[in-house]
Amino acid sequence: MGQKVLVIGSGAREHAIASALLRGGSVSEVAVAPGNPGMALDEGIRVVSLGSSNQAALIDFVKDNGYDWVFVGPEVPLIEGIVDAFAKAGIKAFGPSKAAAQIEGSKDFAKRLMARHNIPTAKYETFDELEPAVAYVHEHGAPIVVKADGLAAGKGVTVAMDEETAVKALDDIFVDHRFGNAGAKVVIEDFLEGQEFSLMSFVNGTEFWPMPISQDHKRAYDNDEGPNTGGMGAYSPVPQIPQSVVDTAIETIVRPTVEAMAAEGTPFTGILYAGLIATADGPKVIEFNARFGDPETEVVLPRLTSDLGAGINAILNGETPTFEWKQDGATLGVVLASKGYPTHVIKGAPIPEITVDADSHVYYAGVASDATHGLVANSGRVLFVETSAESIKAAQDKVYAILDNLDTTGMFYRHDIGAKALNA
Ligand code: AMP
Ligand code: GLY
Repeated sequence: MGQKVLVIGSGAREHAIASALLRGGSVSEVAVAPGNPGMALDEGIRVVSLGSSNQAALIDFVKDNGYDWVFVGPEVPLIEGIVDAFAKAGIKAFGPSKAAAQIEGSKDFAKRLMARHNIPTAKYETFDELEPAVAYVHEHGAPIVVKADGLAAGKGVTVAMDEETAVKALDDIFVDHRFGNAGAKVVIEDFLEGQEFSLMSFVNGTEFWPMPISQDHKRAYDNDEGPNTGGMGAYSPVPQIPQSVVDTAIETIVRPTVEAMAAEGTPFTGILYAGLIATADGPKVIEFNARFGDPETEVVLPRLTSDLGAGINAILNGETPTFEWKQDGATLGVVLASKGYPTHVIKGAPIPEITVDADSHVYYAGVASDATHGLVANSGRVLFVETSAESIKAAQDKVYAILDNLDTTGMFYRHDIGAKALNA
């Protein structure tokens, strides 16, 4: 009998985490709370309808059912302190404490940490009132970037190419309170130019194990047009980002951040996500997340050749983990989203049956189960189709051959995932 692991969350990311845990060998049973009915189709995955903020019920579930440890997927329960609550109950959970999760929960916290430790990021100022913020925009000029301080589900950032757009974003935050408490403070930072990439690492509080890099596609439509989303597709590796840039990012960003969090009494354990931009002046931080990226995880974890559960279990027990990665080929995946995402989601599209080969996966996200239609779309991002092949081009061709053959009425997807790597 292998270990039993509870994964908290309900998206394609958590589906990919559950799959990777089961593939590893040391884990024989995964429960996902609240999960979704799409992932329940997989052998070995049990869906438990407990909300990710229901700490007391989740603790009871783990104890009553003999689960060995917990993996926390999304940021909200982390920022609410679920790992601290599990620890108090004597349960091992992989993820940062409430204090350490501030690196994602407050942009001002992350910016101040980077400033204290000379970690490269855009120059910034923080404001809690409209007038001085507007004055700063006029003094500085555009382009300029306005960010609501707290969590805003990826929608709190305005990249303003002119001063008027920046002022409008400040009005939305301070006058219309568009982000509620998340907008009580605002970070205004310099606009950076370059290709973005995501560098995620397993962290045990003092040491870290970087994963292969990946690239997300944040805009809703082809050619990076349309509104910012949670992410519409991803691929890994990212050949146009040289290894020297990744090495510099590890030494000038990841290492000092892990050391700074430990030195300041908020050691980070879990997945540290560095959202980076390769500027002419070297890699710089766009944002930190306190968890696996979504959809980056869905293309990075399939490249893990070692046992994910064994690696995390080692960290939870204070031992040295092993993480090994496929060195050749590429993994690429595309999000299928409900029409109208991210602003006015139209739910209810029926989801066709999708058959894929052993090198591909369908990871389900916003789906519900309907007595007449089977699975139906129930949220913005519906599912993720991913494949591994010998090259980015081959993986791209394969994923689009699957998607283009489906009846996707009521849904949409981008047609250019991976284009930046192929046009580089
Ligand atoms: P974030 O939620 O902080 O990841 O920001 C969302 C997106 O806005 C990022 O993926 C970037 O494309 C863009 N962005 C954020 N900060 C900057 C910046 N300082 N310069 C240029 N683009 C940015
Ligand atoms: N894909 C970006 C994120 O997970 O925040």
